[in-house]
Amino acid sequence: MADRATPLRLGSIAPNFDAETTNGPINFHDFIGDNWVVLFSHPEDYTPVCTTELGAFAKLEPEFTKRGVKLIGLSANTVESHGGWIKDIAEVSGGKVSFPIIGDKQRQVAYLYDMLDHQDTTNVDSKGIAFTIRSVFIIDPKKTIRLILSYPASTGRNTAEVLRVVDSLQTGDKNRITTPINWLPGDDVIVHPSVSNELAKELFPDFKIVKPYLRFTPLPKEKTSAA
Ligand code: BEZ
Repeated sequence: MADRATPLRLGSIAPNFDAETTNGPINFHDFIGDNWVVLFSHPEDYTPVCTTELGAFAKLEPEFTKRGVKLIGLSANTVESHGGWIKDIAEVSGGKVSFPIIGDKQRQVAYLYDMLDHQDTTNVDSKGIAFTIRSVFIIDPKKTIRLILSYPASTGRNTAEVLRVVDSLQTGDKNRITTPINWLPGDDVIVHPSVSNELAKELFPDFKIVKPYLRFTPLPKEKTSAA
């Protein structure tokens, strides 16, 4: 287990753990293997917002799979409880959850990943324990944390945004580019500041200098992760 005195940051190695899931026991680093992983947490089973979120992740799973991304959820209940809830999720949303959901009743993984709300003192369960919040971690095949999102319990996430960040990260890893505000695959990208204009001419023949520090270029679709 990681020393929780050290905060998790972008660039940290995702802490390893063993856990029970709806698909059987896992060792998290073994689960990651050579894949990208989206790990996301929920406050509680049989709650309305979480039900809509899991249905949406289940429906979008094929798009994550295409990009080499495995999904894994977490909710602060037992895997037996998750099993019943998954049936409701399918009934309500039409999304079949086949990725694992961690049973984190004791909040062990939630504490390890700091997926807890210390600000909102009303956000506690019937025993007064802080609810797990809606965290999202995108982890790359080197087990490095590349994105951390924290949403309040009252706000459902946006699965398209999670997929969009995967596309941005994977496209940036393959090409010397960054992506601008609201970027979607197919839109122009930004030439990475570390690339000189001379090199940019070779790598991106159609690049345009808007300001010396802001250079846009089209990127053929096959060079994006969504291709
Ligand atoms: C929900 O998923 O709807 C929810 C869970 C915990 C607190 C508030 C809302």
